[in-house]
Amino acid sequence: MAEYRNIFDSHAHYDDAAFDEDREVFLAELPQKGICNVVNCGSDLDSSRASIELAAKYPYFYAAAGIHPECVKDAPADAMEQLEVLLSSPKIVAVGEIGLDYHFEENAPREEQIQLFEEQIQLAKARDLPIIVHDREAHGDTMELLRKHRPKGVVHCFSGSVEMAKEVLRLGMYIGLGGAVTFKNARVPVEVAAAVPAERLLLETDCPYMAPVPFRGKRNDSSLIAWVARRIAEIRGTTPEELLLLTRRNAETLFGI
Ligand code: NI
Repeated sequence: MAEYRNIFDSHAHYDDAAFDEDREVFLAELPQKGICNVVNCGSDLDSSRASIELAAKYPYFYAAAGIHPECVKDAPADAMEQLEVLLSSPKIVAVGEIGLDYHFEENAPREEQIQLFEEQIQLAKARDLPIIVHDREAHGDTMELLRKHRPKGVVHCFSGSVEMAKEVLRLGMYIGLGGAVTFKNARVPVEVAAAVPAERLLLETDCPYMAPVPFRGKRNDSSLIAWVARRIAEIRGTTPEELLLLTRRNAETLFGI
């Protein structure tokens, strides 16, 4: 794999336990692997705090704070008040990740997920921050809420159809793509990667998850975006270098960096 520059990872979870063994050394060396910036997403209040701490430590790091739909069931009663305080921290560039996840039976009931998603969208809008949206098997309700509130932001690890992507774009939002475009059975993500206009595409890892082929199932990290960039560049008939530069500019625009 050639050495690339301008890798902007718009969605990472370096606070995850998968990095407990080597986090400090690993993150200190990441810029030498071509990574210019990372936005680390919160999943709950604790991981949002961890995200903010990492951003304070590493110059190239930025933080998003939010309550992930899978964490809604464990959110304290004053979660929104606590989140509001966290959003005043330095280097906060987004509210995320937030959204709807109807995949797991044990997740909070849909109405509760919708309520917290809406409250977090409103918090983001009040602070003029973009949101980072998680939508898993909840396309209909997600789109309904995005249509209703018109936030700025990105739908991360986009798993919808080209039609849905077009509506996300009409709403002025960005599409985040990662390892899934490299999977052998990837059909819709490939169509989406071809259809999204260059100025609305972001690259992401969702690390430690979603490692691209040939590392599928292993621990993902921002340097592996090189493989995603190479695949998307191939799909779009451009070069990885151009794609990385372009998606970097897009991320800088969205996150105000
Ligand atoms: Ni994530």
